[in-house]
Amino acid sequence: MPTTAIIVVAAGSGTRLGGSAPKAFVGIDERSVLRHALDGVFAAAPAQVIVVAPAGHEGDAETELRAAAGERADLGRVVAGGQTRQQSVRAGLRALWGDITTVLVHDAARALTPPSQIDAVAAAVSSGTGVIPAVPVVNTLKRVDGADIVEAVDRSELVAAQTPQGFPRDLLERAYAAAQNAGVEYTDDAALFAAAGHAVQHIPGSSRAFKITAPADLDRARQIIAPARDHDRAAARVGVGTDVHGYGGDGALWLAGLEWPGEPALSGHSDGDAVAHAVVDALLGAAGLGDIGEHFGTSHPEYAGAHGDVFLARTREILAAAGFAIGNVSVQIQANRPRVNVRRVEAQAVLSAALGGAPVSITATTTDGLGFPGRGEGVAVTAVALVLPSSSTGQSTLEQ
Ligand code: CTP
Ligand code: MG
Repeated sequence: MPTTAIIVVAAGSGTRLGGSAPKAFVGIDERSVLRHALDGVFAAAPAQVIVVAPAGHEGDAETELRAAAGERADLGRVVAGGQTRQQSVRAGLRALWGDITTVLVHDAARALTPPSQIDAVAAAVSSGTGVIPAVPVVNTLKRVDGADIVEAVDRSELVAAQTPQGFPRDLLERAYAAAQNAGVEYTDDAALFAAAGHAVQHIPGSSRAFKITAPADLDRARQIIAPARDHDRAAARVGVGTDVHGYGGDGALWLAGLEWPGEPALSGHSDGDAVAHAVVDALLGAAGLGDIGEHFGTSHPEYAGAHGDVFLARTREILAAAGFAIGNVSVQIQANRPRVNVRRVEAQAVLSAALGGAPVSITATTTDGLGFPGRGEGVAVTAVALVLPSSSTGQSTLEQ
């Protein structure tokens, strides 16, 4: 039987996060804040695990506990929390097994805390001393009085406290009883423990153990775990597209997003812009999102007569929604006319703008009189596109 217990306090409402459910049950990805916290706890050395849930949500917490615990389900139990964090910890303390000698108190809100941090705290607790993980303060700090700066605070003397915080069980229980008798609320367990006259030391914490408090913290948690989730499509992907249109349409030629006065028009469902259509297929193909017929075909009459930039802009939206950014596009046109090189720069700029600025390059060739382009019956276009996962990786160094 383990002699260490971890009390995971998850009974808060998450007012500052502002979700519709208590913070513990807000999803980071398909897993909740509580589930991520418990995944970390059960990846650490075996310990009794007491989850302190919001009253009325004990069943939800039980479900998360069982999913995270796996074969260690016997080590876990759920109790209802109280009005304050301190009351919630007290509720957890009442559920300790008799053999427990070391107690770790951990915020479920620090959902991405590394298991190694939990083990390090547990290992550092000694008979008379509490241990907390802490990180250096990165911001310059000021003491203020209303709008006035009173003085600078020397941050080299300060650290930001994290959890889990570990204590010898007997001293922690007595310290909680004393705080209860005195009617004092402390901001963390270390402060309560120190107020009872005991020493507390700190060991290095981790940037991953930040507390999810405000919506920006939830975004940060999502960004941190996104690369692991998306590893199966972390690499760049290429796609190819071709399109062929014959001359014989009405009006002027539209090709590569430009109107070409005096040139024979191409026939087609839209404006017949074979360059735009080949690029759309290359992009959709690279992202594995079907092809032009599926997204823009004759079953979509709203695109009848539309110009190429409309197709390209819509394709960019489809890719973005699926998590892809466009790397670059390369196009080759096979045709006797128009003379593409005289307006190459202009065409590249129009197509690039429709794709949100991704580089587009265009080359053109005649086919030595061979085949249907060589016979002047139409144009053939080949496009190659590179797409990339559009995960952002911005991170703040905010700690609380
Ligand atoms: N907590 C608790 N019982 C309470 C209040 C807080 O168990 N009555 C827990 C929270 O679930 C959280 C941790 O204490 O895991 C740290 O608290 P905090 O980040 O402030 O969470 P909330 O109180 O839920 O958030 P808020 O203050 O924004 O309402
Ligand atoms: Mg709170």
